[in-house]
Parts: sequence; structure tokens; C-alpha cells
Amino acid sequence: MTDVLGAGERLGREELGALQLERLRATLHHAYENVAFYRQAFDTAGLRPEDCRTLADLARFPFTTKADLRDNYPFGMFAVEQSRVRRVHASSGTTGRPTVVGYTDRDLDTWADVVARSIRAAGGRPGHTVHVAYGYGLFTGGLGAHYGAERLGCTVVPASGGMTARQVQLIQDFRPDIIMVTPSYMLTLLDEFERQGVDPRSTSLKVGIFGAEPWTEEMRREIEERFAIDAVDIYGLSEVMGPGVAQECVEAKGGLHVWEDHFYPEVVDPFTGEVLPDGERGELVFTSLTKEAMPVIRYRTRDLTRLLPGTARTFRRMEKVTGRSDDMVILRGVNLFPTQIEEIVLRTPGLAPHFQLRLTREGRLDALTVRAEARPDATGEVRAEAARAVAAAVKDGIGVSVAVEVVDPETLERSVGKLKRIVDLRPAP
Ligand code: DLL
Repeated sequence: MTDVLGAGERLGREELGALQLERLRATLHHAYENVAFYRQAFDTAGLRPEDCRTLADLARFPFTTKADLRDNYPFGMFAVEQSRVRRVHASSGTTGRPTVVGYTDRDLDTWADVVARSIRAAGGRPGHTVHVAYGYGLFTGGLGAHYGAERLGCTVVPASGGMTARQVQLIQDFRPDIIMVTPSYMLTLLDEFERQGVDPRSTSLKVGIFGAEPWTEEMRREIEERFAIDAVDIYGLSEVMGPGVAQECVEAKGGLHVWEDHFYPEVVDPFTGEVLPDGERGELVFTSLTKEAMPVIRYRTRDLTRLLPGTARTFRRMEKVTGRSDDMVILRGVNLFPTQIEEIVLRTPGLAPHFQLRLTREGRLDALTVRAEARPDATGEVRAEAARAVAAAVKDGIGVSVAVEVVDPETLERSVGKLKRIVDLRPAP
């Protein structure tokens, strides 16, 4: 049932709706009949799978959260016999137990299809060489990208993360067309190209497919300019599948098409849980439509975005994720996302695209210090001006005072995968 070109991609809105409803109803039955957690949750809400008669009825069903997955660690959310689970992945999480996810043969097949579709939308074609520098292992990035690129008919270089000097060598020798990597690790590669005296604009790379962490339009410009490539966004999460839930196309770079024939999106008010109309910002929620091993019903991603109409494709788009509700810093009553600081740092002359946010407590108040790296050619005067400019832009644009330290080039820790922007030095509550 290979569907690389995505028959789904060519459906009309009405046909897509009918397909989604049919798949949704089957998924609700599958979850209810095979996962004790869902049976109990639906029963408590007084609902049966057959109460879902339209797509809008989904809003009556209860949400699923990361805590629910943790409570059912490791395999309690699986809906098929263990012998049908062909692979597991896990996301480490910041606290306690990892979240474990499972795939049947058919799930792995679907996943390869949606990633192949994603690479295609990014400009990839059969015969291209794809350098995969997402980590291989329990993280879904490496293997997810890998099988998708193979499915499309590409040659895969399974580089994984780390051994940065060797990555630069491989890129020069194997001449890949496409790189798949976190945007923060791409910056680490950039440093390494420069350290080795190799012009990053001179490589064979034409497209970078970046995801697994939030990144801004300013970061896109920086990477496109420094590498002379097109940079496009790929989104996904392990609980729903892995990379390839949504993908930006290279022609428009205007938001990510959600592969809606497999993953049904809703955006809800993060506080009330109310479904918001398309176009309004809130928390993204996904229901899987075809998953066998681990169906998810109304899974709360904590990612903040909004849904937009489709373009050349029928599928709706989601706006670039600006942040996660749990990455939000509340500083003296003002909400602040690391991506807002990224926008400011990247447009400030004299600063490199590397920064870190340090949270400390002074007395009873939280304080934030932006530590940003100077570009190698920035003089003392330029650095001082940059520090002033960042503080002023944060104050004017976000409405809160922060301290800014401009540090020497190459002093901040570099990413090898997903970057941790916030260093929380506040005493435990
Ligand atoms: O990060 C899957 C993935 C791998 C996506 C490679 C793209 C590329 P998790 O480790 O479960 O899975 O983390 C999922 O990462 O809820 C978002 O908060 C964040 N995230 C993923 N892609 C993007 C993106 C993978 N393009 C969590 N923009 C998600 C912003 C993203 N945040």
C-alpha cells in the first residue's frame, strides 16, 4: 500500500473529509476495544465510539496527555498483541520515565510513506542523496528520516548525530543533495565547515529539512544565506508517529501541510480545551487515523500554532510552531518564548546565531539573562551596542527587562541534536 505520491494529496476537501471520518470511526473503535485506558476514558465521559458521527463530534471525546502515556509505561497504550509490534521508539523527556511508542509493520509502512511525501514536498526526488544527521536510536528522527528517504528512492547516508568533523568530510565526499538535521546542529556543522576552512556555500547541498525543535524565519534566512540552500520545516512527534506529520513545501515555505489523511489536527484553547476555529492560535491536538499499534485520540502536543487553509495541496497547513507551552517563561507576569529572543538575536548586527537563556532568582523575582555569542569580527564597541540593542528590543517588543551578556565566539555549548535553550538555575521550589 505504498502511497509515496499520496493519493490522499490529490483528494478534494469533501472526499478527504469522508475518508477522515471513516478512518476516525475505525480508530475510535480500535482504541476502545483494545486499550483499557481509552475504554475507561470514554466510559467515564459517557461516550461510545459510535457517538462520533461527524468529524466535529470528535470534540466531545476526552484528551490524552503525556502523563497518560507515562502512567501506562511501557506498553499499556498498545492496541495490538506484542508479536505484531515490530519496533518501539521512546522520547527521553525531561522528567522521569520516557514515553514509549510502538509500530506495526503497517505503521512503519505508513510512516515511510509520509516521510517520503515530506521529502518530496521539500524538493527531494528519487536518485537524490540524503544525508541524515538526526540521531539514530530511540529518537524517531534518524530512523524516521532514513526509511522515508529510502521509500522515495533516494540514496541514504545514515550519518546520525555527532562526530561533527567527520560529517563535514562526508558531505564533501559523498556530495548529498539534501540534509536532514536539527537547525541547531546545522549551525554546529556551519562552525565546523569554517574551522576546516571549507566554504559552506560550496557544498553539493541544495535543501535542508529541519525540525525536531522550534526555529524562526530569521534562522531560516541565516541558514539559507550561509549554506546557499533552501531551508524547509518538518514537524512531528513520537507520540503521533515521528517526523513527517507535517511538512513545508519548498515552493511556498509558508507553513507546513499536515498529512491529514493520517493525522487529524485540532487547535484548542490551552486553558479551556475548547476547539478553536481555523486561523486562531492555540495548542495543537492530534488524533491518529490509521495507526494500529498505538492509536492516539486527541493527544495534546503542547505545541502552539494555528491551522491555515491548504494551497496547491488539499491538506490544511499549520503555521511554523513558535514554541511549546512548557518552554514558555513567565517573567514578572510577561510570557516569553525562546523563539522571540531568537528573532531578536539573529537580526542584531555583531551577534552570531548562538544564544542561551539563563533563568535565575533574585530575591523573590525571576531574572533572565540572554547570553549571546559575538561574531568573530565584532569589536568591543559593536558588542556593547549589540547588548544594548537586544535589551531594548526585548523591552519594547516583549515588554520585560532582561540582562544581556555578549560572550566570546565559540564559548556557548553547541548542539548535537535537539538544543536546550533554557538553563534554569533557579532553586527548586
Ligand atoms: O522531534 C520528531 C522529529 C524528528 C520531528 C525530526 C522533526 C524532525 P519528539 O522527540 O517526540 O519527536 O519531539 C516532539 O519536538 O512536540 C515539538 O515540540 C518539537 N518539534 C518537532 N518538530 C518541530 C518543528 C521529534 N518543526 C516535539 N518545529 C514536538 C518546532 C518541533 N518544534
